[in-house]
Amino acid sequence: MPPVIKVLVVIVEKVVVSIGGSILIPDDRDSVFIKELASVLKELSVNVNMVIVCGGGKIARYYTNTGKELGGTTEQRDILGIGATRLNAELLRIALGNDAFDGIPENAKDAAAAFGKGKIVVMGGTSPGHTTDAVAAEVAGLIGCRRIINATSVDAVYSDDPKKDRNAERFAELTIEELSKIVYDEHDAGRSSVFDPVGVKIAMRDRINILVVNGRDLDEMRNAILGNKIKGTVIRS
Ligand code: UTP
Repeated sequence: MPPVIKVLVVIVEKVVVSIGGSILIPDDRDSVFIKELASVLKELSVNVNMVIVCGGGKIARYYTNTGKELGGTTEQRDILGIGATRLNAELLRIALGNDAFDGIPENAKDAAAAFGKGKIVVMGGTSPGHTTDAVAAEVAGLIGCRRIINATSVDAVYSDDPKKDRNAERFAELTIEELSKIVYDEHDAGRSSVFDPVGVKIAMRDRINILVVNGRDLDEMRNAILGNKIKGTVIRS
């Protein structure tokens, strides 16, 4: 009788997370939150290959605004913003310790090359002209990942800013075309919306779904990373 060959197929999921700077650095016991987040990411990285793209938050805003007051061009202010995102990425890398990839990739290609080597790839911005949401979309496209998690300070996509308009409609699901009508059209240094317009175009082109979740809710983050049901908005592409 021929020997029985058993093939064990282990399916490792992949995901790209775009985490807003204001989530990572809430300006209140920041190291406590970063440690908790890192511990969830470490635990899930056993089954899910991840790229975490960190936003610049308040620090980016400080630099892009100060750059504006000094008469800096959009590109110069973008470069300041990128610096802040990379600083935040370094903080998360420290918290992840040995589980983090060694170094911060400077562009999407380098991130794709670092991906899948058993470590969590952590990065910030890359080049002027967009935000870290677009970086996440670009990396997802390169590594063939169909899902981006956008960890933000709101718990879902709304028709308007829910902090300003209490009647704003909350969406459980949207198509990428519907999302593209909600986001602003043009990039400007430090300007923010639910997802960067350049990122929306890449997600549309590469058919990447975007999950918008409250990044401070670590149970929600866990569900989004594992592909379970979320409370936030699912944007289908
Ligand atoms: P963020 O990605 O943090 O932008 O980059 P944001 O608008 O604050 O995003 P959210 O709110 O976290 O989603 C901060 C700034 O850095 C520059 C841009 O000026 C951006 O507004 N940047 C960032 C770039 O120019 N290129 C990048 O790849 C990333």
